[in-house]
Amino acid sequence: MKKRYPTHVSLLLRLVKGSKHFFILSILFAWLTSLLDLINPRIVSFAVDSVLGTASPQLPGPVLSLINRIGGPDMLRSHIGYIAGLVIVIAILAALTRYTFRMMTAKGQEVMLKSTRDLLYRHIISLPLSWHNKNHTGDIIQRCTSDVDVIRAFLSEQLINLVRMTVQIVLAIIFMLGISPYLTLIELAFIPIIVLFSLFFHVRIGASFRKVDEMEGQLSAVAQENLTGVRVVRAFGREQYERERFEKKNEAYTGLWDYLMRLLSLFWATGDALSGLQTLFILIAGAHFCLNGSITVGGYIAFLSYSAMIAGPVRQLGRVISGMSRAGVSIERLQYILNSDPETEIEEAAAAPLEGDIVFDHVTFRYGPDDAPVLNDVSLTCKAGKVTGILGSTGSGKSTLMYLLCRLYDLPENGGEIRIGNQRLSTITRESVRSQIGIVLQEPYLFSRTLGENIAIAGLTATDHDIREAAKIAVLDDTVNHFSKGYDTFVGERGVTLSGGQKQRTAIAQTILRNTPIMILDDSLSAVDTETDTRIRREMDQMDTSATRILIAHRITTLMHADHIIVMDQGRVVEEGTHQELLEHNGLYRKICDLQMPETGREP
Ligand SMILES: Nc1ncnc2c1ncn2[C@@H]1O[C@H](COP(=O)(O)OP(=O)(O)O)[C@@H](O)[C@H]1O
Ligand SMILES: [Mg+2]
Repeated sequence: MKKRYPTHVSLLLRLVKGSKHFFILSILFAWLTSLLDLINPRIVSFAVDSVLGTASPQLPGPVLSLINRIGGPDMLRSHIGYIAGLVIVIAILAALTRYTFRMMTAKGQEVMLKSTRDLLYRHIISLPLSWHNKNHTGDIIQRCTSDVDVIRAFLSEQLINLVRMTVQIVLAIIFMLGISPYLTLIELAFIPIIVLFSLFFHVRIGASFRKVDEMEGQLSAVAQENLTGVRVVRAFGREQYERERFEKKNEAYTGLWDYLMRLLSLFWATGDALSGLQTLFILIAGAHFCLNGSITVGGYIAFLSYSAMIAGPVRQLGRVISGMSRAGVSIERLQYILNSDPETEIEEAAAAPLEGDIVFDHVTFRYGPDDAPVLNDVSLTCKAGKVTGILGSTGSGKSTLMYLLCRLYDLPENGGEIRIGNQRLSTITRESVRSQIGIVLQEPYLFSRTLGENIAIAGLTATDHDIREAAKIAVLDDTVNHFSKGYDTFVGERGVTLSGGQKQRTAIAQTILRNTPIMILDDSLSAVDTETDTRIRREMDQMDTSATRILIAHRITTLMHADHIIVMDQGRVVEEGTHQELLEHNGLYRKICDLQMPETGREP
């Protein structure tokens, strides 16, 4: 598939789609500000020369003719207040344009940040599960926060500053040339030296910043993992070990900052010395020119102002240029996300009701191209409206089979076919499939909301009564009534305040509430006791539904009453039949049954 954002520029253009005009305005106002800033020293220099009266003021022709028209320098000399007023007016104008420039930059970056976050989030949730499996959550979040911020800084600080400073420096040089070409030559001789010097340092500083970033990532990864797994750390008495691991990282992190700070200090100190040297040269040469009359005192003062005005920008130019490489890395990290292909549907895919038998027809599936097949030529049928039990040891591929049924993963070509009532599953849209299948996952995930909100997570319109009814069938109601806040009990992050069995029953209640045409319980009764297990199944049998049900378990008692039982081992179907038939068959099922309930097994 064609890449959406093949180049850095194409991605940047997409990111500034709604904010471009703010950035363009901000650059225009920045230029205007530079121009206004540059005018004032010339006015001051004119004032000095006029008052001293030692030399005719050095001004461009059109400005001089304007002054002559309003009465000449003599008039201005007697009304020096006008000049002061002009200086103030220009300063106020410059303040206004500077304010607009900052506002436009701020506005541009906010709009850009918002649209970038939206774009990323929308894309990330559309990416297939296989993508999420191989990318770490922490890393994805880092890309959506730090990297987005680096790009923001690049656009609203570096890029704009580069354009702004270059123009400011060029304008200042033009103004300087108007005063004295020789002094300008001295100024110019220093500029490349200072820029190169600053670039040299900033390449090192940038590399060092990158190391600091990396170490910060590692440090927060250690902290995050330990905080998430705080129970394991405590239970295994690993506090000491984990603390040392953290402290070691923390020390390395501090060390890197230390080095970085020394580098920065060295840069600023040497930079100051270089600029000082430049000023010294200009001071001496300027004084010399002043004495021999080739420039006026006012011109000399103005020149020094310009030189001081661009000293900062010249030094920052190196920093801006080196900072750009950092933005390049971040752009690539976003490209990685945005160029990943989202889940797509084939052309003829459409929504359709899931009715009829579920048929797995010679299904072969592997997770990665280099992995061994997890399902190997699996063929089985789950009869419509009946309960199908699937028994198998862990890793035999039961969950994978259900993920394929929910279209969480797609079958490859030559990987067989899944049909529901003679319709190929791949021709029914994912949205339609998933909305009609209720699956209780093996490891239920609860959100940090209330218990009631968790049960109603899929059925947005559920009333308290509906939630209660679903909880009753899942044999959760009695338990909840013991909680002081009932269904308003907050379940904590990932449901930490609930026991394994309570979490499972909450997840079952979610699925019961949805009341979909297909219901799957994937090992969902493993953490409840046998008695509750029986009660839940009995309640579900009495539900007013014709749903096709699939019950996965490794406890025989959970699925012995199913209409049809399939026994899986190592990605293959090894036996199938009813409980009775399987016992008579005397195979794997019988063996497991003998182990789990010896008394039943012996007397079928
Ligand atoms: N996301 C995944 N990526 C790679 N391998 C996986 C993934 N999920 C499961 N597997 C592998 O597939 C096999 C079957 O897993 P699963 O379907 O969960 O089995 P069961 O549900 O029967 O215990 C296991 O060997 C497991 O290691
Ligand atoms: Mg499983």
